[in-house]
Amino acid sequence: MREYKVVVLDSGGVGISALTVQFVTGTFIEKYDPTIEDFYRKEIEVDSSPSVLEILDTAGTEHVPVILVGNKVDQEGEREVSCGEGQALAEDWGCPFLETSAKSKTTVDELFTEIV
Ligand code: GTP
Ligand code: MG
Repeated sequence: MREYKVVVLDSGGVGISALTVQFVTGTFIEKYDPTIEDFYRKEIEVDSSPSVLEILDTAGTEHVPVILVGNKVDQEGEREVSCGEGQALAEDWGCPFLETSAKSKTTVDELFTEIV
């Protein structure tokens, strides 16, 4: 059985928990109770394949900061995605793009500073 991990993000009060609970339990939650963090698991069949969805429901926030990161740049000889492809995707998404290496400590501090 294939497992899918899904994280749902929202801007607060838009109904992502109600959608998730409706999907998982088939009931509608009328009362607004802001989420801290909830976890759900549901087995479904998609295209005749049984699948498990593990859904993490998060607290609503105003923006979700996204950074596209290409890691393991120390393994330049095994590169599968060009720097230009990464930059183009980041431009599509409207987010920064960084190439990093945990091994050689390349752009590691910059990555977490950029998130802040
Ligand atoms: P946070 O946990 O703060 O991020 O909010 P949320 O996005 O999880 O919202 P939640 O699912 O708790 O819903 C907020 C309110 O909207 C609740 O009172 C729900 O009953 C209501 N609500 C959610 N979905 C719908 C919908 O499709 N129609 C209507 N009428 N109300 C909805
Ligand atoms: Mg919620």
